[in-house]
Amino acid sequence: MKAITYERYGPPEVLRISDVQRPEPGDHEVLVRVRAAEATKADCEMRSFRFAVNWFWLPMRLAMGLTRPRRKILGIYFAGEVAGLGADVSRFSVGDEVFGAAGLRMGAYGEYVAVSETNTIVPKPADMSFAEAAAVPLGGLNALHFMRLADIKPGESVLINGAGGSIGLHAVQIAKAMGAEVTAVDKSLKESLVRRMGADNFVDYTKQSFADAGQRYDVVFDMVPTSSFGACMRVLKEHGRYLTGNPRLSVMLRCLWASKVSNKKASFAFARETREELLALKEMIESGSVRSIVDEVMPMEQAAEAHHRVEDETRLGAIVISIA
Ligand SMILES: NC(=O)c1ccc[n+]([C@@H]2O[C@H](COP(=O)([O-])OP(=O)(O)OC[C@H]3O[C@@H](n4cnc5c(N)ncnc54)[C@H](OP(=O)(O)O)[C@@H]3O)[C@@H](O)[C@H]2O)c1
Repeated sequence: MKAITYERYGPPEVLRISDVQRPEPGDHEVLVRVRAAEATKADCEMRSFRFAVNWFWLPMRLAMGLTRPRRKILGIYFAGEVAGLGADVSRFSVGDEVFGAAGLRMGAYGEYVAVSETNTIVPKPADMSFAEAAAVPLGGLNALHFMRLADIKPGESVLINGAGGSIGLHAVQIAKAMGAEVTAVDKSLKESLVRRMGADNFVDYTKQSFADAGQRYDVVFDMVPTSSFGACMRVLKEHGRYLTGNPRLSVMLRCLWASKVSNKKASFAFARETREELLALKEMIESGSVRSIVDEVMPMEQAAEAHHRVEDETRLGAIVISIA
């Protein structure tokens, strides 16, 4: 089969198209013919081994391969069709259209990927293209996880820092669906998009710090690794909740301390990405409360260009690779 592979960590140009052996599904695995995979910030970080949060480097390097990548095919989030079943699989049939996450085994940048039937993989939403469906799981699963943790009540005010990114765009929509008033922080290029997703207010971080906008919030959701923990806590109301999905070590310690000594709750988390959450997202998509935002669909041959587009931060929505 054809796959986008990489033999060493480095710039987008390390990505190549290769002929590789098609995976065979194990007894509890589903073989998926991948139709589309999102090119994500996390794919770019695992390709280049440059992380916005420094402490990720060592555990990730041990997991991924010290001198060179152990798994040659990137790609976690995908949509496609079931093409084969392991002997003990009962949940799927050949021909089912599915979307989901391959986990850290990755492989969704190849024509076929084998994933456990217990992985986060569910039927694709009706009336959605493969490209649109592939653009949902990363942003949607992470955003839903954090918005549920925040326990948002109707009428509460929520600040989303990094609102124009893959996770942020879904968080804006999910917070609105939960009845929140949403303030989005990103740069002006993304203002009209995040407003279309439902944001009520917008702060351009290149012109003004959200801490100087004179507002306080019930919830601050922060996906920006360089942001000031102190500023986030200062703009929280009494009993407010701060959540970060991209924590520096110092921020993790300060979260634990702040939750002990103040009436504000600060937490960091890594989303589990469960099937239940993906099914909930599918329902939100089918009911119209969450939309998939695709900026560009690019062929496999332009994988390097797709990674450049993710890294240059000018995209408005997801960059999806069509695995044709
Ligand atoms: N905790 C978890 O479970 C988890 C799961 C998945 C991913 N992650 C990590 O989360 C990070 C973000 O994910 P993502 O896919 O949503 O990234 P993304 O699509 O690159 O989004 C980040 C957004 O933040 C904006 N931004 C940058 N600097 C900012 C600032 N100072 N203030 C406000 N906004 C700013 C970026 O805009 P511009 O740069 O264009 O200005 C961009 O729109 C990645 O590093 C990823 O590894 C964590």
